[in-house]
Amino acid sequence: MRLLVTGGAGFIGSNFVHLTRKNRADTEITVLDAFTYAGNHASLAGLDRVRVIEGDIADAAVVDPLVAEADVVVHFAAESHNDNSLDDPSPFVRTNLIGTFTLLEAVRRHDVRYHHISTDEVYGDLELDDEQRFTENTAYNPSSPYSSTKAGSDLLVRAWVRSFGVRATLSNCSNNYGPRQHVEKFIPRQITTILDGGRPKLYGDGLNVRDWIHVDDHNEAVWTIIDRGEVGQTYLIGADGERSNLAVVRDILRHMGRAPDDFDHVTDRSGHDRRYAIDSTRLRTELGWTPRYPDFGSGLAATIDWYRANEPWWRPQKAAAEQRYAGQQIIASR
Ligand code: NAD
Ligand code: DAU
Repeated sequence: MRLLVTGGAGFIGSNFVHLTRKNRADTEITVLDAFTYAGNHASLAGLDRVRVIEGDIADAAVVDPLVAEADVVVHFAAESHNDNSLDDPSPFVRTNLIGTFTLLEAVRRHDVRYHHISTDEVYGDLELDDEQRFTENTAYNPSSPYSSTKAGSDLLVRAWVRSFGVRATLSNCSNNYGPRQHVEKFIPRQITTILDGGRPKLYGDGLNVRDWIHVDDHNEAVWTIIDRGEVGQTYLIGADGERSNLAVVRDILRHMGRAPDDFDHVTDRSGHDRRYAIDSTRLRTELGWTPRYPDFGSGLAATIDWYRANEPWWRPQKAAAEQRYAGQQIIASR
C-alpha cells in the first residue's frame, strides 16, 4: 500500500508513521508536512524507508502529484492548539479549511481513498454532570477558532462523499497523550516545567475534564477504520479515560516526586470547554477495536520517562513555547 501521511512530523502523525513502519513492513510511506513550529524532523529520526516532503497542504501544486501516486491519504496535518487559535485564527482557517479542501479536490480527481483525522471538540462541551457522552449523532457545536475550523473540515469531507462520491472515512478522537507531543500541550508542558524545576500551570479551577487516550490506541483505531471502516462513515475514538486537569496535574506531581499542591492556578482560557467524553461503542462493536492502553496511570508514567530520556527532542522548543504563553497573557495567578 502506498500511503500519503499529511502532518506526519507532528505528534500523532509521527507516532502513526512509527507504528506503521513497525507493524506493516510492506507499506510505502510518504510524509507531507510544512514543518511549522509543530513539525519536527527529529520525530521521524531512525525510520527506514520514509520519504519526507516539506510542503503545504493548501498548495495544490504540491498536493496533486503526491495524491496521484498514493493508494490512501491519511490526513493529520492541522493547526492543532486552541490557545494559539485564540491568539491568531488565520493559519487555522488556511490549514484546516483550505488545506482540507485542497486534499479533497485531489483525492476526488484521482479517486484515492481518504481518511480524515478530527477531534471530539467539534461537538462543543458537556456539563460535568451530563449523563450523555458524545456519539456519532451528537450535533456539531464547536467553541474555538481551532474546533470550528476542524468542524468545517469535517463537513467538507461529508459533502465531498455525498456530492462527488469521494471514498472517505472520518474519525473524531479525544485528547491524546504519549511520546513526541509538543511542549505547548497540557501534559508535556507540565512534565517539562517540572523537569526544569518549575511549577505546573492549571487554567481556572482545574476541574475541566478531558478524555485521555494513548496515541498508539488512537492510531491503531485509525488503521482499523482504514482496513474495515465503511466509506462515508464517522467513528468516534475514545478509551474511557475521563480525568479532571487537577487530577492529571496531581498524578504528574506524584510520579515525579513532588508535593500534590506544588502547582499554580493561572488565568483561564477564554471560552474554555468544560468537559469532553467519548462513547466509542460503534468503533468497538462494528469494527472490533479495543484500546491496548486502558490504564492512564502507567501510560502517563511511561510518557514522563520518555520526556526524561529525550530532553534533546523537547529542549529546543521549550523556551519559545513558554514565550508564546507569556505573550498570550495566560500567566497571571488567580
Ligand atoms: P501537531 O500540531 O502536533 O502536528 C501537526 C502537524 O501538521 C505538524 O507536523 C505541522 O508541521 C503540520 N502542518 C501544519 N500546517 C500544515 C500545512 N499547512 N501543511 C502541511 N503540514 C502542516 O498536531 P497533533 O496533535 O499531532 O494533531 C494531529 C491531528 O489530530 C490534527 O488534525 C488534530 O486536529 C487531530 N487531533 C488531535 C488530538 C490531540 O489530542 N492532539 C485529538 C484528536 C484529534
Ligand atoms: O479533545 C481533542 C483535542 O485535545 C485536540 O483536538 C487538540 O488538538 C488538542 O490540543 C487537545 O485540545 P485541548 O485544548 O483539550 O488540549 P490542551 O493540551 O491544550 O489542554 C488540555 C486541558 O488542560 C485543557 O482543559 C486546558 C488545560 N491546560 C492546558 C495547558 C496548556 C491547563 O490547565 N494548563 C496548561 O498549561
